[in-house]
Amino acid sequence: MMQHDPTVRGRLEERDVLEVFSPAAPITRRDFFSGRTDQLEHLLDVVAQRGQHAVVYGERGVGKTSLVTVATSGLVDRRTITLRVNCDGSDDFISIWRKVVCEARLPRPLPPVVGIRELLGQAAANAAPLLESARVTVDVVRQALQLLSHPAPIVIIVDEFDRLEQERTKTQFADTIKALSDHVVPATIIVVGVAVNPGALLGEHRSIERGLRPIQVPRMPPAELAAIARFALGKLEMTIADDAVARIVALSGGLPYYTHALGLLASREAVRAGESAVQVAHVERVAPRVID
Ligand SMILES: Nc1ncnc2c1ncn2[C@@H]1O[C@H](COP(=O)(O)OP(=O)(O)OP(=O)(O)O)[C@@H](O)[C@H]1O
Ligand SMILES: [Mg+2]
Repeated sequence: MMQHDPTVRGRLEERDVLEVFSPAAPITRRDFFSGRTDQLEHLLDVVAQRGQHAVVYGERGVGKTSLVTVATSGLVDRRTITLRVNCDGSDDFISIWRKVVCEARLPRPLPPVVGIRELLGQAAANAAPLLESARVTVDVVRQALQLLSHPAPIVIIVDEFDRLEQERTKTQFADTIKALSDHVVPATIIVVGVAVNPGALLGEHRSIERGLRPIQVPRMPPAELAAIARFALGKLEMTIADDAVARIVALSGGLPYYTHALGLLASREAVRAGESAVQVAHVERVAPRVID
């Protein structure tokens, strides 16, 4: 068998870069997550306050799912259960809540509470029949959530909300949020979707309810994008030239998707060439494949 020589080419493989750059997947780990301190704080405030819910909105690919995933990742240690569901074009009010209850039955990290797995399983089994009826009203959903949140407070992330096609579903959601606030159910709803303002997601006047906190996810500032590239390269034990970082940041235009895609391809170029530093030439070479 051929021996690998202990050079960069020998130690680092092309697929290693996939561990640190993830253009196709949201960030799940805090250490890989750059910036967004205000939004993280706002989300944690919402979760901590009874009767508060959030609508997280912004452009496509700006980092909404990463934000809510990282913000809620530590909640399990605070005795809170997080469930996330994605909406699609075929969903309506009932189907989303059925998804939520199904989600509660799947294995997941749970808070360190004695018997929590059985309690949550039982709570889901109690809630499910309420959602079987053909006429599921806002009040029925409120009751189902009251049952589901009995073992521990629950955070429900309803992502891709912009995919819902019926206006009525959005209105029912806004009404559910109001009902949960009024009845002080220990369930926090975080609605997430592509929109220019919260009204575009949830309906104009319903989105200004007191209990609903709008959290905008803006494009990322250059320093936060630069941090993504530098952190990833650091993990690979590679370096990146300042002008290469600057070029990646400029091409990204505030969208972290591009930073990941350019970082991935440029560092792969460097690894292929057996170099341990990413140079601006590597970035220029791959840019046409990423930016149209
Ligand atoms: N704060 C961050 N730090 C590092 N990388 C990030 C951050 N936010 C997002 N990303 C990266 O940017 C890309 C898009 O992120 P994400 O999927 O969270 O965006 P989104 O707004 O939910 O997109 P969509 O509108 O398609 O649902 C992913 O590659 C993700 O890993
Ligand atoms: Mg998303």
